[in-house]
Amino acid sequence: MTDPEGLSARLVAELTASGVLTPEWRAVFEAVPRHRFIPDTVWVEDGDLLEPVDRADDEAAWLALCYGDEAVITQVDDGVPAGPGRAGHQVTSSASQPGVVARMLVALEVEPGMDVLEIGTGTGWNAALLAERLGPDRVTSVEIDPALGERARRVLRREGYRVTVDVGDGASGHPDRAPFDRVIATVAAGRVPHAWAEQTRPGGRVLVPWATDFHNGALVSLTVGRDAVMRGRIVDNVAFMRLRDQRGKRASLVRDVREADGARHSFTRTHPSPVLGEYDASLAIGLRVPHCKLVVEFHDDRAYTAWLVDPWSGSWAALDVEPGAEKFPVRQSGERDLWQEVEDACRWWDRLDRPTADRWGLTVTGEGQYVWLDTEDHRIDA
Ligand SMILES: C[S@@+](CC[C@H](N)C(=O)[O-])C[C@H]1O[C@@H](n2cnc3c(N)ncnc32)[C@H](O)[C@@H]1O
Repeated sequence: MTDPEGLSARLVAELTASGVLTPEWRAVFEAVPRHRFIPDTVWVEDGDLLEPVDRADDEAAWLALCYGDEAVITQVDDGVPAGPGRAGHQVTSSASQPGVVARMLVALEVEPGMDVLEIGTGTGWNAALLAERLGPDRVTSVEIDPALGERARRVLRREGYRVTVDVGDGASGHPDRAPFDRVIATVAAGRVPHAWAEQTRPGGRVLVPWATDFHNGALVSLTVGRDAVMRGRIVDNVAFMRLRDQRGKRASLVRDVREADGARHSFTRTHPSPVLGEYDASLAIGLRVPHCKLVVEFHDDRAYTAWLVDPWSGSWAALDVEPGAEKFPVRQSGERDLWQEVEDACRWWDRLDRPTADRWGLTVTGEGQYVWLDTEDHRIDA
């Protein structure tokens, strides 16, 4: 199908059928076609590679990406691609997955007449959806990348939306347009900026994807108190790219793993798959094991190696997993025993009775943030 209206209607119907779109947001999604905001060149993952797709070369393929329920990669390497192949490429902007956009807008609990600050303008589609619902001059959006910010400003104006788009670091919010009733970050934070609480009216809400180095996938809904402290719980599972200055280091097996340095060899009977691949377990591991990234390397015949890499200290651990095996060889190198740290974190999570994501909460004050379990007085030193 190459008719954008038909494709858009089909996507909205799918999102409605899956229950993510409320009637209010359904009308908004119908009124704001996604392809009007997506740039003519986007990128797709092809195995390990990122390949460009140009609208001029293949309009049908481009439209299929615009109207699939998937994120669309709209920028790599901060707009300065370093050459072909994934090794040189980092995804630095995308149009978020429509289903995730819908779930976050519903979770924002926003009503017409409210003022909203969005962090991470990207294509401008989410800002347009908000503006369609809230009306002119209610939405402020901050984008750190000047080219993306200017493009989004232009596209929003062309589409008839009065949104203030500012180029700058969204971690500082937008003091000139404050106070807001809602802040929605469409970019993940490890440390949630307190400026967002300071710029939100008491009783207002800050919705932010919250990530650790190990785990990216917790949407936190924080309510702002009169004291500008914000607190709240994990309400959904969403993965986003990080705020630019919180990106940290990428793990690279080529750069960070030097087998020649010699490794400490042992065995474990803990199968890594339920530990590392399970949402609630990996969330808990991320709280206890900082500066640790997981890289899974698949081999032939369903065997794989689970790598734990600390790119800061150069420590790494590798578990080789053969199908059907009950014992797994472990290699560890560097000042940290990363696999031991992960096993300790699992035992800690077991002792807490394996809490699920919805039991974790976050409090952000002017001094910093802390994590708690069930109630704010059950604080976890993470
Ligand atoms: C997943 S995209 C946002 C998608 C967007 N809301 C849309 O509708 O297309 C994340 C965006 O956050 C931006 N970003 C990263 N760090 C930022 C920061 N510190 N302040 C503002 N924007 C930031 C990125 O450049 C990227 O465009």
